[in-house]
Amino acid sequence: MKHLLIVYHSQSGKTAAMAHAVRRGAMHPDIESVEVRMRAVADAGPLDLLWCDAVIFATPENFGYMAGAMKDFFDRTFYPCQGRLEGVPCAVVVGAGNDGTGALGALRRIVRGFPLNEAQEPIICRGQIDENVIARCEALGTTMAAGLEIGVF
Ligand SMILES: Cc1cc2nc3c(=O)[nH]c(=O)nc-3n(C[C@H](O)[C@H](O)[C@H](O)COP(=O)(O)O)c2cc1C
Repeated sequence: MKHLLIVYHSQSGKTAAMAHAVRRGAMHPDIESVEVRMRAVADAGPLDLLWCDAVIFATPENFGYMAGAMKDFFDRTFYPCQGRLEGVPCAVVVGAGNDGTGALGALRRIVRGFPLNEAQEPIICRGQIDENVIARCEALGTTMAAGLEIGVF
């Protein structure tokens, strides 16, 4: 089995809904050899990162940056994971009010620092979440899981 991790943070539910959609997509019935683990970021730690073969980070944008809880996760996990995640594929999902680029840019800096491999285009949802965003999140989950299964990353 390959392992796909989804780590998310959400205060009012939007980013959580995006993360759940990613998870649904990743658990597509045609994908048989990928185990999906979804963790609220406060409950996630280095063992989750070391477990996974691919990871999707989902965060709101707060004050032009990723959520503090997500930054705390990276602060807590960097040293235990240093040198052990090189090239692991990842993707980024951002729930934003009207921007999201600050959170994405900050996450990308950290992704490069670990260094992970951003394997798919990010998704930023500005304003209300709608069916189109949910469908894109589901597709991202399916693509990441299918890519893991067939070994394209
Ligand atoms: C403290 C705080 C700061 C925020 N700062 C930004 C911001 O800089 N840019 C932006 O686009 N939205 C900002 N927002 C809006 C949130 O990103 C947006 O409401 C998001 O959908 C919240 O995600 P959640 O529902 O998963 O908590 C901010 C919200 C809060 C609570």
